[in-house]
Amino acid sequence: MQHSSKLQNVRYELRGPILQAAKKMEAAGHRILRMNLGDPAPFGLEAPESIVVDMIHHLREAQGYSDSKGIFSARTAISQYYQTRGLMQIGVEDIFVGNGVSELISMTLQAFLENGDEVLIPAPDYPLWTASVTLSGGRAVHYLCDEANHWWPDMADVAAKITGRTRAIVLINPNNPTGAVYPRHILEQFADLAREHDLVLFSDEIYEKILYEDAVHIHTAAVADDIPVLTFSGLSKAYRMPGYRAGWVAVSGPRAATAAYRESLELLASLRLCANVPAQHAIQTSLGGYQSIGDLVKPGGRLREQRDLACRLLNEIPGVSCVPAAGAMYLFPRLDPEVYPFTDDEKFVLDLLEDQKILVSHGTAFHWPTPDHFRFVILPSTDDIEEAVRRVAAFLAVYRRKAAAQTPVEAAAG
Ligand SMILES: Cc1ncc(COP(=O)(O)O)c(C=O)c1O
Repeated sequence: MQHSSKLQNVRYELRGPILQAAKKMEAAGHRILRMNLGDPAPFGLEAPESIVVDMIHHLREAQGYSDSKGIFSARTAISQYYQTRGLMQIGVEDIFVGNGVSELISMTLQAFLENGDEVLIPAPDYPLWTASVTLSGGRAVHYLCDEANHWWPDMADVAAKITGRTRAIVLINPNNPTGAVYPRHILEQFADLAREHDLVLFSDEIYEKILYEDAVHIHTAAVADDIPVLTFSGLSKAYRMPGYRAGWVAVSGPRAATAAYRESLELLASLRLCANVPAQHAIQTSLGGYQSIGDLVKPGGRLREQRDLACRLLNEIPGVSCVPAAGAMYLFPRLDPEVYPFTDDEKFVLDLLEDQKILVSHGTAFHWPTPDHFRFVILPSTDDIEEAVRRVAAFLAVYRRKAAAQTPVEAAAG
């Protein structure tokens, strides 16, 4: 069978050939240090017991289809959560529950885009956004985030990339893969651009509760109640249950302006009948109960310690620099091109895998334009992080030694 031409420009390299190579090596008996997965469960960061118990309690009554927008108690809990955060306008009817944020990204874009419509997406991005825009017939246009400025979006670049075909801007805050958390003035500039150019803001806030030190998360919708904003979040990360597949999107902004769009979202939601029902029962307990993520990110907490350690050790490698993540669970270190003039970062990651049995993700997989970054996940234990950074350092040391031993002519030839 031939695949559809719609897939031509669709890439999701996080689950692509490098992962296949790692699986093959594991099948051959090697232990691979996996610093590539944004899934807390394999690293012993499990869902809070009370939430699992609550879901089990509801299992019997979760056999049938639910309302396509989601069960009422979950949507009430989500709308109340936003109201306690100052988003008074988000009501039960504004919430759509889905099989994770992933399903809703695809559904909301499908309901919105005409062929050829442009959507601004951060570089680096969580690549599902780019893939979903492409699959929906749109054109992903990447705006740069600035490593020298906390990895915040370069607002001049955002403005410069708006054209007559631009329909929406995607924000990922906190960002995967950089860990950047955006301050109010950046969000306000996005809102100003949306107002000026009649754009919709798609705000992916799935890491909103994974914050370090004094980072504060501000909902985009909180600075833009007069424009259409779609706010995405869910249970996969802060509540550590990505396998249960529970996420939501809240549609805010002027009701008249979003009425037709809401109807089309309802249509798409009903075409897939409903989201996984048992996991929907976990939403109310998750949002209302003790927020155990706070224990993991505070000083001495596991995620905070792992972030601090990974960042410190990576920065100690010659030619590697790493901005500390203000949120989420990733670092996006830079390989100084003067020291490591790689032309193909996928090859770097593959060589590192084969040589040192450690798996990271290459930066261009996140639509970063140059082959000089990689993503390093901070979920593994401190022992594994120490070992992983030791292996990256050993690989890069060999590279530097070989480069130093090359004659100038060889070096010029690469
Ligand atoms: C920024 C971002 N958005 C969405 C998702 C997908 O989340 P879900 O498990 O809710 O589908 C991820 C998963 O890694 C992510 O990093």
